[in-house]
Amino acid sequence: MKILVVGGAGYIGSHMVLMLSDQGNSVVVLDDLSSGQAEAVLGANFVHGGIENTALLDRLFAEKKFDGVMHFASFIQVGESVQQPAKYYRNNVVNTINLLDAMVRHGVRNFIFSSTAAIFGQPDYTPIDEAHPKQPINPYGHSKSMVEQVLHDYDLAYGLKSVCLRYFNAAGADPEGRIGERHNPETHLIPLLLQTAAGRREYAQVFGRDYDTPDGTCIRDYIHIVDLCAAHSLALADLARGSESAAYNLGNGNGFSVRQVIDAVREVTNKPIPVVDAPRRAGDPARLVADSTLARSKLGWSPVYADLHKIVAHAWHWEKKHTGL
Ligand code: UFG
Repeated sequence: MKILVVGGAGYIGSHMVLMLSDQGNSVVVLDDLSSGQAEAVLGANFVHGGIENTALLDRLFAEKKFDGVMHFASFIQVGESVQQPAKYYRNNVVNTINLLDAMVRHGVRNFIFSSTAAIFGQPDYTPIDEAHPKQPINPYGHSKSMVEQVLHDYDLAYGLKSVCLRYFNAAGADPEGRIGERHNPETHLIPLLLQTAAGRREYAQVFGRDYDTPDGTCIRDYIHIVDLCAAHSLALADLARGSESAAYNLGNGNGFSVRQVIDAVREVTNKPIPVVDAPRRAGDPARLVADSTLARSKLGWSPVYADLHKIVAHAWHWEKKHTGL
């Protein structure tokens, strides 16, 4: 297939591009490099630019008849979204609508959207299935939920088919170590622990030990980046076969606490990893675990790297290579 990957130079996008190109697809990446790295784009044509640029989008869609678009170009920091909602609504919502309008103009019908567990806010129950109410508690979560609504309406009005994939905690790296996770600033637990193991940080922080969980730290559902990307690939193939629009929650269905993740990282790296206690981070639910039954049954999706140690091992392989250890 011919696929446009928007935000293909970022963490999840670059792993997606690698998988699509390994599968033999023809891939074009559009990325403004506001947070991604051009050198992470392997096996695709790279175009430097943003989805707010209507003329550029028209040129790309006119040049190549894409079978589908995957959209990873959004801002993702919950705390920043509270401080700067305009930045989040403009990029994550307004610019996404600009991209969708270009697709409609050029008759490109298949769209895969990076959504998030943050659309569920403080969950009423776990594991969280697709029937759980959407009740975001920050502008980041709202921005993603709004696009899900836009997509629903664009399907009805313009026949644009989409799959919204609600990621829980994406983690890990390409098993061959070609690319990995690099955010700036880094805010995610596993890379921060690995940077500490690699000696790039003195210590890692534990945000709250007084949650209503067995060891008092937050529980999350970590999903290997390769498994996450595999779901995108299946979702696009499903749309290409003529399936209806859909939304899926993507996780392993296993929750691990911050303490359990720290233990796993210590075991995999064989490093002590100093940690210090810090206050709760605003807006962190105690427990976020996905019910991915629907993705398994409808898409035939089945995570291969469900083991947390495997996820950490692949991320550590990349971290060592990246740090020159
Ligand atoms: N944590 C720490 N110390 C750190 C960093 C994180 O204790 O230095 C804790 C957090 O409080 C949380 C857990 O580790 O309990 C995981 O935190 P991450 O920042 O790695 O991931 P989040 O669960 O906060 O974020 C993920 C996605 C977001 C998305 C969110 C949905 O990365 O994009 O889930 O709630 F918005």
